[in-house]
Amino acid sequence: MTDINIRHLEPELLDGLPADDPGAIASRRDLVRINALMFQARIMASLLRTNVLTAPLRILELGAGDGKFMLRVARLMARRWPDVEIVMVDRIDLIGKDVCNSFAEFGWRAQPVTADIFDWTGDRPFDLVCANLILHHFDDTRLLELFSRIMTMAPMLVATEPLRAKGPLAATRLLRLIGACAVTLNDATQSVRSGFRGTELSQLWQLSGGMPVMEARKGLFTQGFVGAIMPGTK
Ligand SMILES: C[S@@+](CC[C@H](N)C(=O)[O-])C[C@H]1O[C@@H](n2cnc3c(N)ncnc32)[C@H](O)[C@@H]1O
Repeated sequence: MTDINIRHLEPELLDGLPADDPGAIASRRDLVRINALMFQARIMASLLRTNVLTAPLRILELGAGDGKFMLRVARLMARRWPDVEIVMVDRIDLIGKDVCNSFAEFGWRAQPVTADIFDWTGDRPFDLVCANLILHHFDDTRLLELFSRIMTMAPMLVATEPLRAKGPLAATRLLRLIGACAVTLNDATQSVRSGFRGTELSQLWQLSGGMPVMEARKGLFTQGFVGAIMPGTK
């Protein structure tokens, strides 16, 4: 048994599976339902509405998966932010034409990029970086590196990550009731153990040279974080 007070990282099964493995396909399907159960898109949209006061024209999403999470966020934001180019980076090519076309229905231009977020830097700056259920994959040293990279690309990061707490840990055991596959059952528990609480992300953001804006538990299962670059930094 690991101590919930301490972040504990172990590689998630999904990360080691080829994209076309049946377990990976089933787990990514589960992820769409888990995002819905956690209200991740609604929480992200709420953080965006509260903290991003000028409509962004270019958004970067890190670890975008199949793009369906950001599509849901875009649906919630499109009236307020009608003209957005969304660049979605994931090391696996998972975003289909249908998802890109759905973004286009409300005027957002989706650009999927297959790359490692530790290697890739866009050719132009972004107004905002979003991250959902990706930061918890990395240990603190890697997060410091990632945060420094983000700060060279955009003035703000908004993230929704697993809350590391006993309640969410217990809830992962209930996922079998919705028919979650073995990969998901394993990875959901790992995700909570490697998730965040308190001001952990803020401290790392600050150590990377940034200015934390907010960090708090959101809903039952989510740690929300907003970080900005220091005023006066380009
Ligand atoms: C738990 S999934 C979340 C996907 C998506 N954000 C969502 O909510 O549906 C984590 C994603 O991060 C991607 N990922 C993990 N490490 C990565 C890296 N170093 N560079 C790019 N993508 C990465 C994985 O391929 C996976 O799609």
